[in-house]
Amino acid sequence: MDEDLTLLEKEALQEVAAAETEEELEDVRVRWLGRKGRLTGVLRSLAELPAPLRKSMGQKANDLKRLLEGELERRRQEVRRQREREKMARERVDVTLPGVPLRLGHRHPLLLVLEEIEAIFRSMGFEVAHGPEVETDLYNFALLNIPEGHPARDMQDTFYVEDGRWLLRTQTSPVQVRFMQSRAPQLPVRMIAPGRVYRRDDDATHSPMFHQVEGLVVDEGIHFGHLRWTLEEFARRMLGEKTKIRLRPSYFPFTEPSAEVDATCSVCGGKGCATCKGTGWLEILGAGMVHPVVLQNGGYDPEKVSGFAFGLGVERITMIKYGIEDLRLFFQNDPRFVGQF
Ligand code: PHE
Repeated sequence: MDEDLTLLEKEALQEVAAAETEEELEDVRVRWLGRKGRLTGVLRSLAELPAPLRKSMGQKANDLKRLLEGELERRRQEVRRQREREKMARERVDVTLPGVPLRLGHRHPLLLVLEEIEAIFRSMGFEVAHGPEVETDLYNFALLNIPEGHPARDMQDTFYVEDGRWLLRTQTSPVQVRFMQSRAPQLPVRMIAPGRVYRRDDDATHSPMFHQVEGLVVDEGIHFGHLRWTLEEFARRMLGEKTKIRLRPSYFPFTEPSAEVDATCSVCGGKGCATCKGTGWLEILGAGMVHPVVLQNGGYDPEKVSGFAFGLGVERITMIKYGIEDLRLFFQNDPRFVGQF
């Protein structure tokens, strides 16, 4: 029996050492110490032995039980630690590997130029106003001295909404009247109104949606010289110190007199090149003295005050500033284009 216990011990400890997982260890435990386990059987059979033998054998068998329990626990912890180590090795991250570079967003060239335009006019005492993109016929045309049937409407035929009372604004000029109505009779009025406008056009230099900045100044004694100085100052700051402007007589129903304003070509400096088609000049905006009817519609007395207004195309200014030839590039949003500014 002594002999047997030594053999049993050897066998049991071998099984414990060979177990690789907690499940296998549990199997070993059940096989030896479970209700029908081998050691449990030995302990139970002690009852049949004669008393002196039972005592010494009982001692040894219980020692073996404790030893086995201790070994099972020790091995269980060993197996668990081993699992941990394997998991760590599997999930190891090399923190010294270079990361995946994040591509940062970029402000659109039109936005950059718009911000520059706003900064220039703010520094001259203008405030920035906004108007709705879906306008009424009234503000987009009628109050700007363009009654129904006026030929100037054909030049800006647009996108009408529902019954024709609403439309996508063709110009930022309606903000002139909206702003005056919100201010009258306060003076002075000095505002610019940037925003999107819509026209039925689509080619390399026209897009059905584009951006304008409207300008309006109303005060006592405003004259054409103020208009000219303001626009010259703007052109110089926007397109470079040496830029000059020229005014050509033109027609807008809401200004009188009206002018189209050109700046010296920023590509050739005025000598004449392909961009300016050999003229040395590039058109940048339309302007004029606010028509008395428009002042009146805005709530001001044209006998007492006068004003000037202008409207410039943001795409045009941006194309001139950066020498961009195709306006459609602005709206294709190719990062190779946008990222250059
Ligand atoms: N609204 C005109 C256009 O879109 C530009 C303009 C604005 C002209 C203000 C004169 C005064 O063509």
